[in-house]
Amino acid sequence: MLLRDTSIVVTGGNSGIGEAIVLAAAAEGANVVVDYVSHPDETTSLIDKVEAAGGHAVGVEADVSRPADLHTMIQKAVDTYGRLDVLVNNAGIETRTSLLDTTEDDFDKVLAVDMKSAFFGTQIAAKQFISQGGGGLVLNISSVHEDWPMPGNIAYCVAKGGIRMLTRTAGVELGEHGIRVVNIAPGAVATPINASTEDDPEKMKKLKAAIPLRRMAQPDDIADVVVFLASGKAGYMTATTVVVDGGIMQGSVGL
Ligand SMILES: NC(=O)c1ccc[n+]([C@@H]2O[C@H](COP(=O)([O-])OP(=O)(O)OC[C@H]3O[C@@H](n4cnc5c(N)ncnc54)[C@H](O)[C@@H]3O)[C@@H](O)[C@H]2O)c1
Repeated sequence: MLLRDTSIVVTGGNSGIGEAIVLAAAAEGANVVVDYVSHPDETTSLIDKVEAAGGHAVGVEADVSRPADLHTMIQKAVDTYGRLDVLVNNAGIETRTSLLDTTEDDFDKVLAVDMKSAFFGTQIAAKQFISQGGGGLVLNISSVHEDWPMPGNIAYCVAKGGIRMLTRTAGVELGEHGIRVVNIAPGAVATPINASTEDDPEKMKKLKAAIPLRRMAQPDDIADVVVFLASGKAGYMTATTVVVDGGIMQGSVGL
């Protein structure tokens, strides 16, 4: 098992990519804290599923846009499992609005859930790691849109671009403590956040044609990379982004 006794917190852990990370980490022996802000029943079912398979998971209700909740969330890992080894900043939202249409409220919400959460989550986790004697990993589920414009979803791109620099700068600042900070940048993944695209056959046709591997990612495609990065096999990786996008960012249209 690659993650035996690793204490891992997954934000937004009861849906989509977060849920797949919870299941994959628990299957590799990790002790998991599942953060959620809605759908407590789905969190309970997920925890039951982990435990039925012989794993360990507990839930914590925490709104990641509030640093006080992030403290509570990380303390839950320390109180339950005695320490924190990995924080996965996965929770995210988007508004699918352009520059001209984005309201101040839209902007503040997206930046708070997608970026402020990762900033203060990284800070709080790093203080916990240092108090344990160093080591530890922060994994941010960023997006190809940390680097690649998505017209019509600008606040999301701004937030993910911020996470790109958060990871690089925090990774450099925290290296002396043996703390690693890494981004995963998924391409298009089949999760609830993409329901409107998946429900539109024309959009799906165009999307698949643009992806060299000719399919959307499944949440497990991302979770498998999380397991690798959280394992001892990736101990020299920090301050960088791992792109998991089926090749979509290469952007060749073959005309
Ligand atoms: N699906 C994709 O194509 C894709 C691509 C690239 C990156 N991502 C990123 O992956 C991450 C997970 O997204 P997903 O695709 O699984 O979508 P999803 O909608 O299934 O999951 C998002 C999760 O975040 C949680 N969340 C939202 N606001 C929160 C808050 N304030 N506090 C705590 N949790 C909150 C939701 O409850 C949910 O559990 C996001 O950061 C998203 O930007 C997704």
